[in-house]
Amino acid sequence: MSQPISIAIVGSGYVGLVAAACFAEIGHHVICVDNDEAKVQTLREGGIPIHEDYLPELLNRHRGKLVEFTADLRAATKAAQAIFIAVGTPQSRAGSADLSYVDAVASEIARSIDSYKIIVEKSTVPVYTNEWIRRVVERNGVPRDLFDVASNPEFLREGTAVVDFLHADRIVIGAATERSAELLKRLYLPLTSGEYYRTANAVPGPRAQADPPPILLTSTKAAEIIKHASNALLATKISFINVVANICEAAGADVEEVARGIGMDSRIGPKFLRAGVGYGGSCFPKDVAAFRHVAEQVGVDFGLLREVEKINEEQKLRFFQKIRSALWTFRGKRIGVLGLAFKGGTDDIRESPALDIVQRLLNEGCVISAYDPAAEERSREVIPVGPQMQYAKDPYEAAQDADALLILNDWQEFAELDLARLRYTLRYPIVIDGRNLYDPTGMTENGFIYLSVGRPGSSQTLDPVATHYLPPPRGRAKA
Ligand code: UGA
Repeated sequence: MSQPISIAIVGSGYVGLVAAACFAEIGHHVICVDNDEAKVQTLREGGIPIHEDYLPELLNRHRGKLVEFTADLRAATKAAQAIFIAVGTPQSRAGSADLSYVDAVASEIARSIDSYKIIVEKSTVPVYTNEWIRRVVERNGVPRDLFDVASNPEFLREGTAVVDFLHADRIVIGAATERSAELLKRLYLPLTSGEYYRTANAVPGPRAQADPPPILLTSTKAAEIIKHASNALLATKISFINVVANICEAAGADVEEVARGIGMDSRIGPKFLRAGVGYGGSCFPKDVAAFRHVAEQVGVDFGLLREVEKINEEQKLRFFQKIRSALWTFRGKRIGVLGLAFKGGTDDIRESPALDIVQRLLNEGCVISAYDPAAEERSREVIPVGPQMQYAKDPYEAAQDADALLILNDWQEFAELDLARLRYTLRYPIVIDGRNLYDPTGMTENGFIYLSVGRPGSSQTLDPVATHYLPPPRGRAKA
């Protein structure tokens, strides 16, 4: 493949680790730096702290050859031509992005620069961060001709991050100098030339040699805004469809049909129009708030984003009311829960709507039995096992003798349940689906009271004509 480049990636979280594995996969030498010594040791020994498709394969393939792990940022900086900053940018109390980790890392990098380096922002950061990094490095005495600062935002989704990296929709490079733009272009050449896609064992995905990802060269500020604006627009799409779902629910239309109809307009597109319990995760909630703050700082009122956030909060509450509408009272009710992570395909529970709903049910006195294929361990740290909370080993154990079953995220296995078995396992055949994984007619035919989001019959009412007939509980029915 093209000429290898030595890079350091600071921060071994979702973005840093995936970028490290993927840069190695396309032939570069990568040193992964993290100040958490225990994590570094785990990674060296072959442990992988996150659940991500293809990540174990890629790290096993390149560990000790093209990927190394260290806690020594100074040595890594000296050895690298490009240093990527992929540390966390958590939400501060005010809602803006807390950039103290970026600041600290930039200072430390500056103290180790002894030859030309490119410092690349990979974390999601507000506009002007690039300029701040440049100032910090200069303040530490590094001459202007010995470094450049560039922005190369990531558009990875958790769960499919490796494929998203290697088969990107686009690669955005915000660079202020020819020299830094050239080096970053070279870094991605195996992808943009299509070369990678004809190598043996290339990770499969939508891109091919004849259809490689395009590269977009922009100013550093534009690249920073592209990242925030992309996440904010995707979150807006979700809140928009969730409100449309609520209209559909009231009007007796099906939001799935409506979303299909909207999405067939090529100017809108079908993606991110799935109604549900609201968005979560480590990115959308934080980035929408941070972008709104950026707008405020530059004197622009982005009230639209406030509305997006408000709708998202209300959506969780609406779902909770839907559960209440089916169960009437909560205290002592036994509820099976499928899904704890903020979406299927990941173990990440940060800002998970599922956990929010579980917590509300626990506060109301419900007894929960929850199952998630990957997020149990992390969930146990936040909601430990107790008299009201149990973790199940599969969906049927979660549903055992439950007064209702909730579907709160979209793991594929939740869409493929054995309905006959489920019907028999539940105490009452009530399924409340926050991700619209089933066809309502099919569920009714299978004997379920099925409530979902934005579809006819999506909530129980007390209207005697509209109220579903509730069959007797399973035990009594058999007797
Ligand atoms: C998101 C973006 O999709 C990535 O492009 C971006 O790189 C990443 O944030 C980031 O900034 O690091 P991610 O948070 O992994 O990725 O998850 P998504 O797949 O985007 O889903 C976010 C939330 O929206 C989830 O709770 C999901 O269930 C929800 N969602 C998504 C919907 O409710 N409806 C949809 O149609 C799509």
